[in-house]
Amino acid sequence: MSDISYRPGLEGVSAGETAICSIDDGLRYRGYAIEDLAANASFADVAFLLLRGELPSEDDRREFHQELARFAAQTPNEVLEIVHGAPAAAPLMDVIRSGASLLAHWAPDEGGDDDMQTHLRESTRLLAQLPVVLAAAYRGRRGLPRVDADAELPFAENFLTMLHDTKPTERAVQALDVTLILYAEHEFNASTFTARVVCSTLSDVYSSITAAIGALKGPLHGGANERVMALLEEVGSPENAEPWIRNALANKQRIMGFGHRVYKSGDPRADYLAPLCAELAKESGNEHTEEIAGTIERIIRAEKKLPPNLDWPSARIYAYLGLPVELYTPLFVLSRTAGWCAHFMEQRANNRLIRPRSNYVGPGPRTMTSSS
Ligand code: ACO
Repeated sequence: MSDISYRPGLEGVSAGETAICSIDDGLRYRGYAIEDLAANASFADVAFLLLRGELPSEDDRREFHQELARFAAQTPNEVLEIVHGAPAAAPLMDVIRSGASLLAHWAPDEGGDDDMQTHLRESTRLLAQLPVVLAAAYRGRRGLPRVDADAELPFAENFLTMLHDTKPTERAVQALDVTLILYAEHEFNASTFTARVVCSTLSDVYSSITAAIGALKGPLHGGANERVMALLEEVGSPENAEPWIRNALANKQRIMGFGHRVYKSGDPRADYLAPLCAELAKESGNEHTEEIAGTIERIIRAEKKLPPNLDWPSARIYAYLGLPVELYTPLFVLSRTAGWCAHFMEQRANNRLIRPRSNYVGPGPRTMTSSS
């Protein structure tokens, strides 16, 4: 048996260097605390920061907005028709994963130069076009016609308008924008690492992001936010919260929205969102859901010493904004695309094929004659 050191799940193992995000002194994107960014920047500013390394100047902001609007308007009609016509039963995560892959077929840069300008352009195009794809897929399954992107509108407002075909409230735009900022980047999580592995083979941005979406879909990662709402709905009433959670813990059930591989004493994103979540619950008349959530959180903290992660408040925020559950993980995709693409470019700029070893634990050497 090989004696190469091994940690299950690579827990505590550093798998590379990054200048994009740090989690040791609070969560920071390129040195800026997420609390600072969430309070003072827009999601487009944060995407610019992640992709290019610095926050945008006024001119940069205007140009980046125009670039996003131009790419959104160029979303291939062929792709939109396919996702708009996808079966209503297909999970939206599957549809957006296929959408990311399909966009490559009509991308003018695909198969082109392997240089940073091309990768940056492809990344910006994906960031602009995935919301158009998601809105089309969502409306298609409801038998509704597609709504074009509006070049005038900022990212979150544009998405909500394409989704509902009505002007969203300022409050909804601002709340969605904050969650997009907080979901945008988180160093070497499972989906980002997936994106970097694909990139390290010198594959392209579209392949990398398609693979990352597949990794994000799982309930231990991005898929948890949808399951948080399923859980709260199953509990149903504040009176049922305590017996429900005690029974779930006694049965060793994994409670979605709690625990984290690296944040053992608390997820700063969940802490940041908690007050906003409470305010939105009040404004939308959902205090009873907050009551259920409060009881569950108190008991899990007391019994398991597990703090909530980002998905615990963000799922409720999306519910209070009236967003259907099937959109929660795809919304994570729209946001994390900024982080994934930043990691793609960082990996490519200093690439070495990611190819770890494994420790063999199977049968010893044998021949066909001896085993038959
Ligand atoms: N509910 C109940 N128990 C839990 C939970 C949970 N959510 N999370 C961890 N535990 C328990 C485990 O059962 C285990 O207990 P034990 O030692 O008595 O067996 C202990 O805590 C350690 O758990 P691990 O699975 O080893 O911890 P790991 O670091 O692998 O887990 C993970 C991280 C996968 C996120 C886990 O906490 C989990 O499954 N949470 C629910 C899914 C979730 O919310 N995912 C979102 C992550 S954040 C994001 O993607 C934005």
